[in-house]
Amino acid sequence: MKYQVIYISKTGNTEKIAKKIFEVLPGMEKDIMRFDPGMEIGDADVVWVGFCVNRGTCSMDLLDYLSELHEKKIVLFGTCGMGSDASYYKRIMDEIVAWIPDDSECLGTFMCQGKMPMSIREKYESMLGNGNDGQLQALIRNFDEALLRPDKDDLKHTAEFVNRMLEKI
Ligand SMILES: Cc1cc2nc3c(=O)[nH]c(=O)nc-3n(C[C@H](O)[C@H](O)[C@H](O)COP(=O)(O)O)c2cc1C
Repeated sequence: MKYQVIYISKTGNTEKIAKKIFEVLPGMEKDIMRFDPGMEIGDADVVWVGFCVNRGTCSMDLLDYLSELHEKKIVLFGTCGMGSDASYYKRIMDEIVAWIPDDSECLGTFMCQGKMPMSIREKYESMLGNGNDGQLQALIRNFDEALLRPDKDDLKHTAEFVNRMLEKI
């Protein structure tokens, strides 16, 4: 079984998850690389595709690439700023899974919280005092909770997820 891990990571969160996935994958026939829009489709049987969430989804280039992954088993993983919101994670993943061709199979998806750039907290703070403070305080709390993510537990959950996916293959 050949595995390929491909990922987009702007600030390193998704890269941490990608590296853990790569570490847990068995055997020597495995490869890990950053996504590049011009990259060729490899001969891996199972492709692990990772992304950072940007405005509710991943990049269009990655969606295009996914739509060209024929006759593969595909696993999606990602990180996003929003924490513990299963329905939000599901909505994002469902939209991305829809790009996988019918002759491929999505084995599963994994999403985890990742820290965000300080500019996002500063933006929330600058908006305080305009009648929306309750929601903004919740966003600031979420920002602060994300500061150390992905953490040790997230990497443990990643490893458990990989093993669950391997059982499906
Ligand atoms: C411009 C921008 C847009 C973002 N949009 C979202 C979003 O829509 N939803 C979300 O939950 N997190 C969002 N985030 C947070 C990132 O998804 C999160 O920090 C992610 O872990 C970054 O992954 P990376 O370190 O691999 O780049 C955004 C961050 C930036 C900088």
